[in-house]
Amino acid sequence: MNVGIIGTGLLGKSVATRLLNTGHKVTVYNRTKEKTDPLRKLGADVVESPRKVAEKSDLVITIVKDSGAVESVSFGKDGIVDGKHDGLVVADMSTINPIASRKIAKKYEQSGITMIDSPVMGGPSLAEKGQLVVMVGGSKEAYERCRPVFDSIGERTFYLGSNGAADAMKLAMNLQISVLALAISEGIILAKKSGLDPLLFLEVLNSTYFKTGMSLLKGPKMAKGVFEPSFFLNVMQKDLDEINYTAKEFGANLPVARLANELYQGAVKEGFGQIDYTGIMAYLEKVTKSDT
Ligand SMILES: NC(=O)c1ccc[n+]([C@@H]2O[C@H](COP(=O)([O-])OP(=O)(O)OC[C@H]3O[C@@H](n4cnc5c(N)ncnc54)[C@H](OP(=O)(O)O)[C@@H]3O)[C@@H](O)[C@H]2O)c1
Repeated sequence: MNVGIIGTGLLGKSVATRLLNTGHKVTVYNRTKEKTDPLRKLGADVVESPRKVAEKSDLVITIVKDSGAVESVSFGKDGIVDGKHDGLVVADMSTINPIASRKIAKKYEQSGITMIDSPVMGGPSLAEKGQLVVMVGGSKEAYERCRPVFDSIGERTFYLGSNGAADAMKLAMNLQISVLALAISEGIILAKKSGLDPLLFLEVLNSTYFKTGMSLLKGPKMAKGVFEPSFFLNVMQKDLDEINYTAKEFGANLPVARLANELYQGAVKEGFGQIDYTGIMAYLEKVTKSDT
């Protein structure tokens, strides 16, 4: 399959890299063109518009910030729909809410294009190793056709049902991540304030049943105040907007998700948006200091 990637931010660049390294022909577009330079060096065909990507691809994967960006690259000037051809499938890998996802899929359907939602769990480093978890919603037939590409980037793929199902699952997943980052942050802060070494706090935590990938891998960096981004804090805050919007639309009462969003919103306002989401700890420490 010829694969197109639209959006070469932290995740899109890694997905494209993995596809290039596993022998796929990859065409890429990014709004800010310089970000495609490393991919051009790896052999990607860099083009000027989402339309050109669609023209050259059997499968176009959109990996952009939010649903507004998905709309823009899909239906805006020289958008994906303008590059329509027989058999074209669009897979949206951005984290967006299921309501918007269904609307976008319907608009594609009206243009004669099949769109599936295919959000992923795991960040850039897992993408480059082909170890993402891929979740898919929408046409099963389109999913089966795209499966070899998903198998190149992921070690497990879940087909979850109709359009929006995978996005709903992804939001339930990201609620775990955002709250876990808060819990580990407050544990480290409490340990430090109690005169304990935060690395010892993590060693004890990681010796128990309650250890997580986050406490094992990101925890030590958090304890040292290192927040090099694999997933920007402002993107996590956007996901919390999506989680809370979806909860409201579907009638779920999620007080923890609301509180988490208030905290991440505060962090973005204070200028912590462009560091890793685990940098929520730096914001909480700043708030703790100003409260005492
Ligand atoms: N990073 C992760 O670990 C991870 C994991 C799973 C899912 N995701 C999801 O994947 C998506 C991308 O995340 P990321 O981490 O790659 O974020 P990122 O590094 O901030 O990249 C965002 C991408 O979206 C593009 N974009 C934003 N607004 C746009 C618009 N209006 N029109 C066209 N393009 C636009 C950006 O283009 P410019 O370069 O021009 O700004 C960039 O390519 C998000 O929905 C995120 O929630 C990320």
